Amino acid sequence: MMAEEAAGAVSLQFKEFGMHALAVKNLSKNFGGLRALSRVNLTVAAGERHAIIGPNGAGKSTFFNVITGELQPTKGAVWLHGREVTSLSVYQRANLGLGHTFQRNNLFTGLTVHENVRLAVQHQEGINRHWFKGITAFTAVTESVTGILAQVGLLPQQAIKVGELAYGQQRALELALALATRPKILLFDEPTAGMSPAETADIVRLIQSLPRDLTMMIVEHDMDVIFSLADRITVLHYGQIIRSGSPQEVRQDAQVQAIYLGNS
Ligand SMILES: Nc1ncnc2c1ncn2[C@@H]1O[C@H](COP(=O)(O)OP(=O)(O)OP(=O)(O)O)[C@@H](O)[C@H]1O
Ligand SMILES: [Mg+2]
Repeated sequence: MMAEEAAGAVSLQFKEFGMHALAVKNLSKNFGGLRALSRVNLTVAAGERHAIIGPNGAGKSTFFNVITGELQPTKGAVWLHGREVTSLSVYQRANLGLGHTFQRNNLFTGLTVHENVRLAVQHQEGINRHWFKGITAFTAVTESVTGILAQVGLLPQQAIKVGELAYGQQRALELALALATRPKILLFDEPTAGMSPAETADIVRLIQSLPRDLTMMIVEHDMDVIFSLADRITVLHYGQIIRSGSPQEVRQDAQVQAIYLGNS
């Protein structure tokens, strides 16, 4: 009886979450007496570009940190591609294809753009155990590095030391390092923060050009950026989801307009 019930529960959970790239169930995170996240339920389909919006302090970064494993939730569960990962480390989740772009300290400013990406690619090859010594491997890594740099538009800068890059280019390099880990899901926390309008337009184009089967979650304050990138938008307010839907639905929602967009 017990075993059957347990099996039933597992298959129900699989049905509920198995097809989603990401699913969170009843996720709460308290900081002392503060409820930064409160009973958040959300599923994100493979290939979806999902934006999380909400006022300052709404819990957006906390949400991301609980998804990556940087923070343990007070309650609830996180699933990646049908597998529960709530007790797994950041590193283990990264190995399951969860990438993120807020790892600024991963840039080696004294090394060149090419060298930075090479280190990330070699690290990844080591993890995948495809790594073998010799010239063939060296060439394969070089091709991989060149491909990623082309993808983020930094091929012309590949011999430049990272410390000499413009700010927007450093952010593009962070994206390159994230892509080197071959993520299936990529989280962006405010990818355009601190950027000029021209740099913002560049990074938006770059994100748009990423493969359609890459699942993305994007926290962003710039509404133009949100509406040009997102297939679906979730609005957080005081740690709770107040609306989740298409950009059109969210834009027209009266509560969202009142609380967040401030449109009258
Ligand atoms: N490590 C922490 N310890 C205590 N409180 C925290 C911690 N991290 C976040 N908070 C609080 O939790 C709430 C949610 O913060 P969070 O950073 O997730 O908001 P956010 O939506 O990302 O805001 P912003 O748009 O300003 O980046 C805030 O009230 C914040 O002060
Ligand atoms: Mg934040």
